[in-house]
Amino acid sequence: MSTATTQAAAIQKLTPELKAFIAEWKNKPGNLIMVLHRVQQGFGYIPREVAFEVADLLDVPLAKIYGVITFYNFFKLKKPGRNQIQVCMGTACYLKGGEDIIQEMEGILGVGLNTVTPDGEFSTEAVRCVGCCGLAPVMVVNGEVYGKVKTADLQGIIAKIRKA
Ligand code: FES
Repeated sequence: MSTATTQAAAIQKLTPELKAFIAEWKNKPGNLIMVLHRVQQGFGYIPREVAFEVADLLDVPLAKIYGVITFYNFFKLKKPGRNQIQVCMGTACYLKGGEDIIQEMEGILGVGLNTVTPDGEFSTEAVRCVGCCGLAPVMVVNGEVYGKVKTADLQGIIAKIRKA
């Protein structure tokens, strides 16, 4: 069994630091969003078993937690790839070929949007305007912005990230 498969099967638990954070925020307004942000920072997504723990510790219904997670695009329910690729599909990027970037990326990685490659290395998602329309079309890889991206550049970008 590969390491990625083993990790995917591992049960996630709140760390003592996260438990302390939740205790600190338990009675403050807006605590659920703050806690979920912190959980996602720690795990890269909101694991199901951790959502149960958060519900228990904050004393809120699980349905409320899932309501928040599914309302905000920011929160992820599935573990993302080690490298997270976001392709902007805001108006400027769409008009400058954002869709072509996504199609080419899917071809290179062999998986569609919102799916992790079998080796756990990459996940791709389409996002709304990331605020640098002058550089359209734009993609963001692990927080780094790539502007005026051409489909011909993608193989090189992926190869560079894979080595990093
Ligand atoms: S539309 Fe892509 S950065 Fe604004």
